[in-house]
Amino acid sequence: MSESLLSIRGLNVQFSAYGRSQQVLHDVSLDVPAHSQVALVGESGSGKTVTMKAIMGLLRDPPARILSGEIRYEGRDLLKLPPRERKKLNGTEMSMVFQDPMSSLNPVFTIADQLGTILKYADRRLGRSRSGRERMARVLEVLAQVRMRDPERVAASYPVMLSGGMRQRVLIAMALLSEPKLLIADEPGTALDVTTQAQILKLLKDLVADRGLALLMITHNLGVVRETSDYVYVMNKGVVVEHAPAAELFSAPREDYTRSLIAAVPRLTGGMRFGSAGARV
Ligand SMILES: Nc1ncnc2c1ncn2[C@@H]1O[C@H](COP(=O)(O)OP(=O)(O)OP(=O)(O)O)[C@@H](O)[C@H]1O
Ligand SMILES: [Mg+2]
Repeated sequence: MSESLLSIRGLNVQFSAYGRSQQVLHDVSLDVPAHSQVALVGESGSGKTVTMKAIMGLLRDPPARILSGEIRYEGRDLLKLPPRERKKLNGTEMSMVFQDPMSSLNPVFTIADQLGTILKYADRRLGRSRSGRERMARVLEVLAQVRMRDPERVAASYPVMLSGGMRQRVLIAMALLSEPKLLIADEPGTALDVTTQAQILKLLKDLVADRGLALLMITHNLGVVRETSDYVYVMNKGVVVEHAPAAELFSAPREDYTRSLIAAVPRLTGGMRFGSAGARV
């Protein structure tokens, strides 16, 4: 594997509530090389979202506590960065594709207003400046990148005027605004029907490949992982139990747990196609 853009080593995380504590990540190590597509899979409650939140600096202490470990981005340990420096990376170097368009978009502002504001703050964090007209041009550009047929109309719309699939594409556009190197997506499109979700995942895959980004994707859809990921990490109860290149993991899984996840993907006549409904495991 080439040198990693993101590298997690020995991450231990605990949650505490009402005087009781529970360790939810145990010695998690994971690499996302530049330009690669890495999947993180595992049953519900296995620690995927907690891992993603730790990377994005979104774990709140309390209740979450990082006991030990390193999260290196381009060699710098994010856990040791001053908060200001850490914040600067979000939405600039690394971006998160939010999952739930309804709670991530503000109903009372147009898409142009929302994307424009996010871009303004990202520019400010990076010490860049852009005129209102330049910002609008960038907003229209990212809307076109996520294959909106009429970017100007979408920009002028309020969220409620767009379909669920279009809103999810707006969230992808939002993540792309300031040209990050790493995209982190936690179950993108799960609020959508399976066909639209498959289109969204295909779009993400194409964008990442075309723009040379790295993608860390959390998903329950093993069918999609098989089609799109270079490398897969399997988590169970806060532990990475197996990791391997995707082709190897699917052809020769070592752990019973991985076998059971793979077995839960429905096999359709004629084999799996991209876009077929993967099981939620
Ligand atoms: N705010 C919290 N307070 C206490 N425990 C939490 C909190 N958030 C997550 N946990 C616990 O951490 C563990 C891992 O949760 P996590 O959300 O990472 O699972 P997941 O793999 O993302 O599951 P899913 O596939 O359902 O999204 C679970 O046992 C969960 O109960
Ligand atoms: Mg989750």
